[in-house]
Amino acid sequence: MQKQILVGVAALAALFAVSAHAGDAAAGKAKAATCAACHGPTGVSGNPLWPNLAGQKEAYLVKQIKAFKDGVRTDPTMAPMVAALSDKDIDDLAAFFASQDCK
Ligand code: HEC
Repeated sequence: MQKQILVGVAALAALFAVSAHAGDAAAGKAKAATCAACHGPTGVSGNPLWPNLAGQKEAYLVKQIKAFKDGVRTDPTMAPMVAALSDKDIDDLAAFFASQDCK
């Protein structure tokens, strides 16, 4: 009985871990003004050196932004862009760019 409860709690925790990335796209749009200079206002970049973000998977964007912030992924351009972002900012930005059309 106790084991079943534990399994249930673990399953619930796993569910939360997945949905925890659900950011607010509208809030992300407002925060994306600084990103627009390079990645474009909707995440479609006009420069071959700057990647498109539009339509990318939300969880992947969160992971990459955190990787830049933590220094796991190093890029001299991106590091200062994300240094001051909170987890909520990152979730919102990722939700915004993921919701955009990549054309
Ligand atoms: C001055 C230009 C510039 C600005 C401004 C900028 N970026 Fe970037 N961004 C880049 C470049 C260049 C790369 C590619 C880095 C590399 O080669 O690893 C990149 C990569 C990324 C990636 C990884 C994409 C992938 O496919 O792995 C994400 C996510 C990202 N930027 C998000 C943002 C966000 C969010 C902002 C605003 C807070 C932002 N960037 C502002 C230049 C910029």
